[in-house]
Amino acid sequence: MPQSTAEIQNYLDENAERFQNELCDWLRLASVSTDSKFAGDVRAAADWLLTRFQNLGFESQIIETVGHPIVYAETPPVADAPVVLVYGHYDVQPPDPLDLWDAPPFEPTIRNGNVYARGATDDKGQLLTHVLSCEGWMKTAGKLPLQIKFLVEGEEECGSEGLNEFLAGKYDGDGPRVEDRLAADICVISDCSQYGPGQPAITYGLRGITYFELRVNGPNRDLHSGSFGGAVTNPANALSKILSGLIDGDGRIQIPGFYDDVIDLTPRERKEYESLNFDEAAYQQDLGVAATTGESGYTTLERRWARPTFDVNGLWSGYQGEGAKTVLPAKAGAKFSFRLVPNQDPVKIAEGLRQRITELCPPGVNFELVDMHGAPGALVPLENPFMEPAAKAIEKGFGTRPVFIRGGGSIPLVGSIKQQLGMDTLLLGWGQDDDNPHSPNEKFSLEDFQKGIKASAWLWQEISQINKSS
Ligand code: BES
Ligand code: MN
Ligand code: MN
Repeated sequence: MPQSTAEIQNYLDENAERFQNELCDWLRLASVSTDSKFAGDVRAAADWLLTRFQNLGFESQIIETVGHPIVYAETPPVADAPVVLVYGHYDVQPPDPLDLWDAPPFEPTIRNGNVYARGATDDKGQLLTHVLSCEGWMKTAGKLPLQIKFLVEGEEECGSEGLNEFLAGKYDGDGPRVEDRLAADICVISDCSQYGPGQPAITYGLRGITYFELRVNGPNRDLHSGSFGGAVTNPANALSKILSGLIDGDGRIQIPGFYDDVIDLTPRERKEYESLNFDEAAYQQDLGVAATTGESGYTTLERRWARPTFDVNGLWSGYQGEGAKTVLPAKAGAKFSFRLVPNQDPVKIAEGLRQRITELCPPGVNFELVDMHGAPGALVPLENPFMEPAAKAIEKGFGTRPVFIRGGGSIPLVGSIKQQLGMDTLLLGWGQDDDNPHSPNEKFSLEDFQKGIKASAWLWQEISQINKSS
């Protein structure tokens, strides 16, 4: 181990408290990307990060997009060492419902060794570990052992429109072409979870997603359900019928061609998930549910990580106020999404869905289906040469060798960067499944934060040992 690495570890220990304060400063900026009333805070969060990179002496810039800005920074090239692209997002989910938070979402508070705030784990806290590990290297060794390029977007939680245009070369102008600018040997993302407390993991697969809004329109006005009920198709009834026709009692999705391209779990994967000894009872207890359910023939881990799903995300129609109102509503609507597994094509699924809804929709109402956004799933080969260096770095940072898992969520960039630049991604999640991302009381363990910084510092060391010229 080079002497500088021990120095870096000391530096990181000595500055741990300041790192925590810096995270809290960033979390105070309410960078909610979906809601335009937060636009000023989104900009401030991007500027905060830009300044952070500039203070490290990195060549940094804000890239304006159709939507929120991208923050880009890079360190100098290092001969014969691999180049790493670190991706993350500085935007956060809306904090609603506010009354379910124990403390205000943008006033970070520390309780039980966790920092509580919107964005704590998703993704400000996790992303910042890679910035701070770079600080450790710069302030002790004076340089990094390899070149790092940071690509940080502000629209991950709302469709990544600006990033997609950037990746398509729309903002190249007179500067380098995007594929040259981002050229790297491996992408690194910390925006998912460990297997559990004390058990770090490398995530080698993510699900994709395709998201829709369905509006069902009936009569030209709300009607008295006594005078008209039974004679007129009720849009709320029709919507219920359509939604329930999309999945059967065995949890199998009823869309033509839906399973055609699904990659099955390998026997080896099933065996390995089995050996992770998932605690079903503890899981149910944590969630306050009496049973877990899903596609028959699969375990809970398999269902969450490697099988497609259908979930209603929002639902509206008719009377929602106190008491009873006998109304036959004129309209009904729902937002719903499918989690996809690697190799399923969101476009093909949207076509099958439209066909299926046309079959299910009763006469007397019509429907509008809006395709909101989609992203393919991803699988990273376990044989990828960067996996083992990453496992070593995590073992040094966390004190435990990581297990290999998949994640149920989606990170659209993982698929785009593979498709467009042929680059694989190391998904090194420092979070925990009960961190409440997208929910009230989002948190991030401060111990995981500090260990993540150390693992990241080791990662640059381990990856730099892969000699490109040999
Ligand atoms: N960090 C999550 C993705 C994630 C969560 C991956 C848990 C693995 C485990 C990311 O910020 C996210 O929320 N993604 C969205 C994507 C969507 C808006 C296109 C998701 O998964 O819902
Ligand atoms: Mn995220
Ligand atoms: Mn998220």
